[in-house]
Amino acid sequence: MNTFKSTVPTGFPEGFLWGGATAANQLEGGYREGGKGLSTADLMTAGTHTTPRRITLDVDPALNYPSHEAVDFYHRYEEDIALFAEMGFKVFRLSIAWTRIFPNGDDAEPSEEGLRFYDRVFAELRKHGIEPLVTLSHYEAPFALAGKYGGWSDRRVIDFYVRYCETVFKRYKNVVKYWLTFNEINILTMPFGTFMSAAMIPAGSLELGGDPGADDERARFQSLHHQFVASAKAVKLGHSINPDFKIGCMIAYMCVYPLTSHPDDVLEAQRKDQLSNFLCSDVQVRGEYPGFAKRYFAEKGIAPDVTEDDEQSLREGRVDYYTFSYYTSNCVSAEPGKEETEGNLSLGLKNPHLKASEWGWQIDPAGLRWSLNNIYDRYQIPLMVVENGLGAVDTVEEDGSIRDDYRIDYLKRHIEAMKEAIADGVDLIGYTPWGCIDLVSAGTGEMKKRYGFIHVDKDNEGRGTLDRSRKDSFFWYKQVIAGNGEELEPAKPAVEQYGAE
Ligand code: BG6
Repeated sequence: MNTFKSTVPTGFPEGFLWGGATAANQLEGGYREGGKGLSTADLMTAGTHTTPRRITLDVDPALNYPSHEAVDFYHRYEEDIALFAEMGFKVFRLSIAWTRIFPNGDDAEPSEEGLRFYDRVFAELRKHGIEPLVTLSHYEAPFALAGKYGGWSDRRVIDFYVRYCETVFKRYKNVVKYWLTFNEINILTMPFGTFMSAAMIPAGSLELGGDPGADDERARFQSLHHQFVASAKAVKLGHSINPDFKIGCMIAYMCVYPLTSHPDDVLEAQRKDQLSNFLCSDVQVRGEYPGFAKRYFAEKGIAPDVTEDDEQSLREGRVDYYTFSYYTSNCVSAEPGKEETEGNLSLGLKNPHLKASEWGWQIDPAGLRWSLNNIYDRYQIPLMVVENGLGAVDTVEEDGSIRDDYRIDYLKRHIEAMKEAIADGVDLIGYTPWGCIDLVSAGTGEMKKRYGFIHVDKDNEGRGTLDRSRKDSFFWYKQVIAGNGEELEPAKPAVEQYGAE
């Protein structure tokens, strides 16, 4: 037998972690219950595709803040977890709201009530044999840190974060194995992350995404550096609390192509891949800043304050695995004036070969295969796709069904791309599509931008019963998990194939 040939994997590995992903501020609601403090997300109003979300410095009762109720997982987690179990989830990605545990971020003692909530959630997951995958910080930093310290721009916040991590690592050391330190840590390479991730009040406009002219890039990269150190310290500490912990980084992977074969465009694409994607993961996976980052800082006069102790922490706190979100791709060009496209976190140029979602995000399954190869070639550590999906408007038919074949098609093509990447040799260990249950959009604050397999009856204005129901994609994903990614073809609409629920 030719053993060389037989080593090419033909499908998803045994034990592949199929599941779904969420974040506390977009899911839980109960924003003041159980002693919870205000997070940055709790001060972001609802927007639309065309109207940006606004940041307010206090809660204004006249405004709509989608995180306050979100989809009420806080009270409905048992029902929701039962639905995840019905689909056959092996893993569920959720975040712990830091403000449930330390309401102001810098409190001396944790909130027992907050800890008890997650005790109950993890017990429920265990009951159904679902492995939790916990993001420690997902765009929900304590708002109190903004006023008192200027958010993450202040070095003292590192210790507050590490204290929070130590608390939850110790509390859940026997029930959680997979952790992620910061959601999409590379959002701080862009102005968009200033408030959402770093809890820094932006200068100028308080519209989310703000006024790029008022962006303080130096402070933003200093905050990012503090998050790197905090992440590394958390990794080291976590391993000392439980050596079996797997602690990963999480990157918003921005797949970027040169618009043309002109060498300047090719170099521009490489530069964007380096600065937007690899700067952060090089620090978190390899334990030090790459040369291109140092050059960028020098050219921009940014000079972050990095101590010898910091450098040691970065070396000692390298992550165990690499996770990322993947929704879309875009192009770059060295020439100005080309047509732009929207996308997750960053804008780029339109690719003439791709179609886009209703929110203008270009759909590119091949880009996922390309990205998986690109990342794995660089790091050679296990990868997990912890966000992927199609934000779309769903229609509830008269019989209650939701025929979301467009979502099935999107996910199916991305799963096929993952399978190809596995055959290419990529060590992919899991897949958690985003918003497995409909939840609040982070970018726009809308409800109608839905990603879920499970529909939640709630509209953009906050009206609805919050009742849950199964979409066609629910039954399809259940079939995908049961067949470990081999049964991707939806034979008929779910109501005919599986009977209406
Ligand atoms: C990712 C975030 O950037 O994209 C999620 O980690 C977010 O929090 C997701 O919800 C999808 O973006 P949006 O704007 O459609 O909610």
